[in-house]
Amino acid sequence: MALQKTLSWLLLLLLTLLGLRLVQPSYGQNMYQRFLGQHVDPTVTGGNNLYCNNTMKTQFSCKRFNTFIHENIGTIISICSTTNIQCKNGKMNCHAGVVKVTDCAIMGRTLPPKCNYQAKASTRRVVIACEGNPLVPVHFDR
Ligand SMILES: *[C@@H]1O[C@H](CO)[C@@H](O)[C@H](O)[C@H]1NC(C)=O
Repeated sequence: MALQKTLSWLLLLLLTLLGLRLVQPSYGQNMYQRFLGQHVDPTVTGGNNLYCNNTMKTQFSCKRFNTFIHENIGTIISICSTTNIQCKNGKMNCHAGVVKVTDCAIMGRTLPPKCNYQAKASTRRVVIACEGNPLVPVHFDR
């Protein structure tokens, strides 16, 4: 009797997990959300060292390098409709645009939460990879 109950619970759990899996957004949507979280911050126009310290410290390790784009998402999505160029991995779904950014580079060997960053705010050419229909940014290339 107890075993049967346990099995029913396990079955229910399995079905729940399968259900969650089915309603998850598609791979491209996940990548898009990840891109937004990791690389887009329209709330500021440029960051300093403290900005990088604070925005990067939620990671499990201190990421070596990260770029934040300080533009509205609409502006970034419009870069996806420019001419295709080659990405670093050889694929042809990259696009270039000039945007306001903060490049955060790690200084020395540090561990969270003491990630020590050097910030460089500038307006520069960035290259992003886009996917989907409509095209959305899914990867920061360079
Ligand atoms: C960034 O974090 C490091 C490590 O905690 C610290 O030494 C450094 O002073 C911080 N930089 C700023 C500008 O607060």
